[in-house]
Amino acid sequence: MGKKPCIAMVGSNMMDLITYYEDRFPHLGETIIGRDFEIGFGGKGANQAVAAAKLGGEVVLVTAVGDDLFGPLVRENFVSQGVDPRYIKVVPGKTSGVAPIFVNPQGENSIFIIPGANWFLEPEDVDRAKNDLARASFLLLQLEIKLETVYYTIHLANTLGCKIILNPAPAQKLDFERLRKIFLFVPNETELQNLLHLPSLTEKDLKRGIEKLLSLDIDNVLVTLGAQGALLGNKEGFRHFPPYKVKAVDTTGAGDAFLGSLAFYLAEGKSLEEAIDLACGYAALSTTKRGTQKSFASRKDFEDWWQRATRTTPSLLQG
Ligand code: RIB
Repeated sequence: MGKKPCIAMVGSNMMDLITYYEDRFPHLGETIIGRDFEIGFGGKGANQAVAAAKLGGEVVLVTAVGDDLFGPLVRENFVSQGVDPRYIKVVPGKTSGVAPIFVNPQGENSIFIIPGANWFLEPEDVDRAKNDLARASFLLLQLEIKLETVYYTIHLANTLGCKIILNPAPAQKLDFERLRKIFLFVPNETELQNLLHLPSLTEKDLKRGIEKLLSLDIDNVLVTLGAQGALLGNKEGFRHFPPYKVKAVDTTGAGDAFLGSLAFYLAEGKSLEEAIDLACGYAALSTTKRGTQKSFASRKDFEDWWQRATRTTPSLLQG
């Protein structure tokens, strides 16, 4: 058996508290009966790490939990999913991150995050993992930890020679001057709109937004568009990746399934285009099951599904 592709991840973990509701969300001051509830492991960093590990990657993860009842469970989950737990910091006196999530009957979600201990992940914690991070060809980052740690990790990854994939989620005001040598920047359409203050998101706006980001120190911009697939922009121009046909029941974590699998396939040596296409498939498959990490397929299950997967042919955004 060959060596596993190594992926580095510096990011969050959360306990997902998922409410599935019928018909509609309650108004202010109103109580209505929901349909179902689940607790699961989540957080964008953790989800992306687990997706990459389930596909067969070696994942070096730097993250933080609180000294509450969730901390040991989160750690156990990482171990059982094959993610290296050595760089999980325990922050005394803080709660672990939690995410109340609300899923409507169409499978679409609204999410709050309460970062808790994740906000106490410091540049020194990233430094401690330096030798192991250096073994990874790609390093993946999101914005559920404080921005100082994100900027520091970008600086460190560049000195270590890891290619950086930045998922600016949830959208925050970024200092683009500190985003140096980003290989791949992956917002969804809402994040792109918030980051660049775009009034609307027609195809023209989308392409203009991508061009704006490409004028910075970013090589490739990939905007994920949900049911419309994904749009890649780089110095070669634009390329649209259509989504795969599935019956979605819960889209929670689909974006993370996309990023984790994308990083895995890139680290395995696939071209950017091949990796994006596979990631579109992996994310689509995750929406056919409920929950976050528990909806992510193993490599074998994904490859079986991939043999018979078909693409849809949606048009890009209007205008
Ligand atoms: O992207 C989905 C994730 O966002 C959830 O797992 C939740 O924890 C939030 O981080």
